[in-house]
Amino acid sequence: MEEKIYIYPGYIRIWHLLNALFFLVLILTGISMQYSNPDSPLIPFRISVELHNIAGIGLTINYLVFIIGNSLSGNRKQYKIQWKGLWERLMKQARYYLRGYFRKEEHPFPITEDSKFNPLQAITYAMAMYLGVPLLCLTGIGLLFPETILDRIFGLSGLLVADLLHVTSGFLLSLFMIIHIYLCTLGLKPIKNFKAIFTGWHETEHK
Ligand code: HEM
Repeated sequence: MEEKIYIYPGYIRIWHLLNALFFLVLILTGISMQYSNPDSPLIPFRISVELHNIAGIGLTINYLVFIIGNSLSGNRKQYKIQWKGLWERLMKQARYYLRGYFRKEEHPFPITEDSKFNPLQAITYAMAMYLGVPLLCLTGIGLLFPETILDRIFGLSGLLVADLLHVTSGFLLSLFMIIHIYLCTLGLKPIKNFKAIFTGWHETEHK
């Protein structure tokens, strides 16, 4: 029997689409600036800088929409980490991704309206959205307006610290995005989760 539940409200779908687009622009222009070769740049340096700044400001404003929307709608509770028994639940989910899925076993944590993320999603989404993205945006704003950065932090140049944190959080979030997209294909059908984030409706996985 097929059942549908509504788990991605409109503001999440719009936020997510814009977030993914801004991220792609930021990754492309970020890589281009990092490894720029004046003779054969992937994207001309000046254009990369401008596109990176515009997409970064867009990502930051969009992030505020996510945070405010999550607080008002109650979606924030989905990001609360249940520490009790977390390790066992993470292992159960990892075993499913590595083995159970390929043996067509039942999903260990079926999606419900109250709990739409499995334990691995809950912890990685919480870390990405409440740690990684704010750090990326704050350090990005610091680099855009260097006068706002402290001159020295722990004896190091404030600009260098902001730059290192920005590049590291950007790299880790890019890695997150690649793994996130791959894991999203591991539904009953590979396209199912992508359809859900567009329509808002998730088709339950009961066989
Ligand atoms: C082209 C890039 C991306 C694609 C194709 C994609 C795909 C998806 C899909 C299919 C879902 C629904 C399934 C699920 O909940 O796991 C989803 C949800 C989600 N994605 Fe992505 N994603 C992309 C980029 C990103 C990025 C860059 C971030 C964060 C930095 C992100 C964070 C999230 C979060 C937090 C959710 C859950 C939203 C909620 O219901 O509260 N995604 N994504």
